[in-house]
Amino acid sequence: MKSIKGIILAGGTGSRLYPLTLGTSKQLLPVYDKPMIYYPLSVLMQAEIKDVLIISSEHDLPKFKKLLGDGSKLGIKISYKVQFEPNGIAESFIIGQDFICDDNVCLILGDNIFHGDEFISNINTAKIDLSNGYSSIFGVSVPNPESYGVIEFDDKNNIIDIAEKPDFAKSNIIVSGLYFYTNDVVKFAKKLKPSERGEKEITDINNLYLSSKKLKLIRLKSSISWFDTGTYSSLIQASKYFENYEKKSGQKAACIEEIAYNMGFIDNSQLNKIANSMHNSEYGNYLLKLTLK
Ligand code: TTP
Repeated sequence: MKSIKGIILAGGTGSRLYPLTLGTSKQLLPVYDKPMIYYPLSVLMQAEIKDVLIISSEHDLPKFKKLLGDGSKLGIKISYKVQFEPNGIAESFIIGQDFICDDNVCLILGDNIFHGDEFISNINTAKIDLSNGYSSIFGVSVPNPESYGVIEFDDKNNIIDIAEKPDFAKSNIIVSGLYFYTNDVVKFAKKLKPSERGEKEITDINNLYLSSKKLKLIRLKSSISWFDTGTYSSLIQASKYFENYEKKSGQKAACIEEIAYNMGFIDNSQLNKIANSMHNSEYGNYLLKLTLK
């Protein structure tokens, strides 16, 4: 069976967050107590995807390398590639073609955050679909669908089209930034012509799968919180949500070291080493407590 490679796309301009992102990448900004990229990385790790490619700009890539290294501390493998210009989300499959090789691939956008106990069952559905040759997208209901890829349904609830940032949305269900694709995605991405805004559009990839009847829509369960942290208010909203969640539950969300430990990617002594390197922070202390349980 083909394995699933993971890609985190963490480039872009982040222009809606200027001046916050003039000097650094959006995906390195904090979401409560950790850098934003921890959240998408935690999704891949929970999906048991241990071979990950991070794509970002030439300017920002060294900072991601400094933060996450080669992944060995987490018991995973992380490699890196530059996207020289933000030429669109679908370009990630061309940049990552040697990395993907003959495997299937899960792409997650670096500014997309998913949280909830039932999320793992959504992911497992996508993995099963993939093993049967179907690609999956994850639909979420939002109040401002016009800012996203909007899903149009027929009266039997079948998808008939996905429209990228339409003037008038045909539904309020949009495609979130997590995608499980068969290996065909590389071929599809190469075929794509840039859109009017000059980008290789992920929506065009989804429509290619749709027209070949190989696309499944997984609706995120209502208990799952989803954030696209591209604006000031969504960024602070996500931070507040996780502050509240972590204080109330005494648990950390998207704690990649804890996930690595719980999934058996690293052992107690490896976790202890990471915890000690951060012992001055509450985060480090949380990790230390885990090693004592
Ligand atoms: P967007 O939020 O659409 O774009 P952006 O991050 O550049 O922000 P803004 O609109 O404020 O200028 O991108 C969604 C995600 O995809 C985000 O994590 C950045 C990433 N991305 C790339 O890495 N390369 C690209 O070419 C594009 C279009 C997006």
